[in-house]
Amino acid sequence: MPLIQRFPLRELCVHPRTAKQMYEGTVDLDAFARVCEQCTLPLTYNGDIRTLEDYQRISARFPTVKRWMLGRGIVANPFLAESIRAGKDTRDMARFQQWHADILSRYAENAPGDHALLGHLKELWSYLAPTFKQGDQLWSSLKITRTREEFERVLRLIPLQWR
Ligand SMILES: Cc1cc2nc3c(=O)[nH]c(=O)nc-3n(C[C@H](O)[C@H](O)[C@H](O)COP(=O)(O)O)c2cc1C
Repeated sequence: MPLIQRFPLRELCVHPRTAKQMYEGTVDLDAFARVCEQCTLPLTYNGDIRTLEDYQRISARFPTVKRWMLGRGIVANPFLAESIRAGKDTRDMARFQQWHADILSRYAENAPGDHALLGHLKELWSYLAPTFKQGDQLWSSLKITRTREEFERVLRLIPLQWR
């Protein structure tokens, strides 16, 4: 921390894992607490906020932290930031479907063909699928699709429910 704070930084964002862990194992909240004690820069917390409850638990432990960064959690649940602001679960299947149709058409506008489009969609769905009760079935069907039509057919055939 003394070394980092010698640089002219505007903000410090900390994901309290080791480089060796990458994104596995658990975040080290005790290590983050030590950063908190020493840090004089505006400090952002990042890591493993997947649900409203995760945010509530971690933010209760660090009341001086005012900046929060969401990673995999918001990819898996696009309502996460909204739910955190509202203090309640705001997931809504009709709005999810609209959001997904919108993101799919934006990907399609920018992708040169189905192969590239499916690359983006499969990356997205590798995070989204576990959010649904049908996640395992959904992911094993989606990942073998080869065209946009096949991909959209799987989504039409498997009714989605939040886990
Ligand atoms: C697929 C993936 C790609 C990422 N790409 C970047 C990146 O380009 N730059 C970066 O600073 N962090 C990147 N990260 C790290 C995230 O910003 C974040 O620190 C990490 O996912 C931990 O937060 P989370 O537990 O909320 O996901 C990436 C993480 C994942 C899973």
